[in-house]
Amino acid sequence: MRENWSDENYAAHYNRLYATPAEEFQACLDLLALGPEDSLVDFGCGNGDFLALAADRVASALGVDLSGPQLEIARTRLSGRPGVEILQSTFLDFDPGARRFTRGFSRKALHHLTDSEKELFLARIGPAFQPGALFLLEDGMFFGFEREELEANWDVLVAEAQAYYGDSWEAKKPDILHSFRNEFPTGVRRWERIFEKAGFTVTERRARSSFYGTLLAVKRQGNEG
Ligand SMILES: C[S@@+](CC[C@H](N)C(=O)[O-])C[C@H]1O[C@@H](n2cnc3c(N)ncnc32)[C@H](O)[C@@H]1O
Repeated sequence: MRENWSDENYAAHYNRLYATPAEEFQACLDLLALGPEDSLVDFGCGNGDFLALAADRVASALGVDLSGPQLEIARTRLSGRPGVEILQSTFLDFDPGARRFTRGFSRKALHHLTDSEKELFLARIGPAFQPGALFLLEDGMFFGFEREELEANWDVLVAEAQAYYGDSWEAKKPDILHSFRNEFPTGVRRWERIFEKAGFTVTERRARSSFYGTLLAVKRQGNEG
């Protein structure tokens, strides 16, 4: 099924096949070390799975996503929680305005941007992060090669994905191969340079597989890029 986040059938397909166990989000909460003073933003918050766990631990939580059907679920789940804002916007249209963040999170979402779009997006949001702010990115990313080297590494990558997904490979294969080729998971070194330019330093890298993992970045002092 081709990806279309404005289509409620696609959103339901995603929620059914890729529902995330709460432990996975818990690991993200631990890495972000959320506290009661924090202002959190979740880019690509989807149906609000992460925000639902995080919102009570922070002073404010903003979810940004383009998907009407997913945001409807998020709004219903989070209604009445103080300090929570759910905003329908594309990443590239998002303008932080006067908002300031101490924690940023994005899971399985920023690979939808090309590398130059990632750069534009990070440059736009970077100034809204306080010095010392943490940004946790969990997404498709290549740990062993750069995106330009995708074709040369294709057969090994597909074999690794098949082994990684095991019994669910056949059901997930079309989405995964589509994501590798037609979306924009990029090399970890490229991601690090993008963060660096936007004023962040990547301090931790964790590979869950050769094509998926997390980067934890810290916002540097001052506004230097
Ligand atoms: C694979 S889901 C991940 C949802 C959630 N973060 C999770 O981990 O389950 C990707 C989300 O990114 C959103 N998204 C994709 N491209 C986007 C864009 N250009 N601007 C804003 N949101 C986008 C989709 O609507 C979708 O909710």
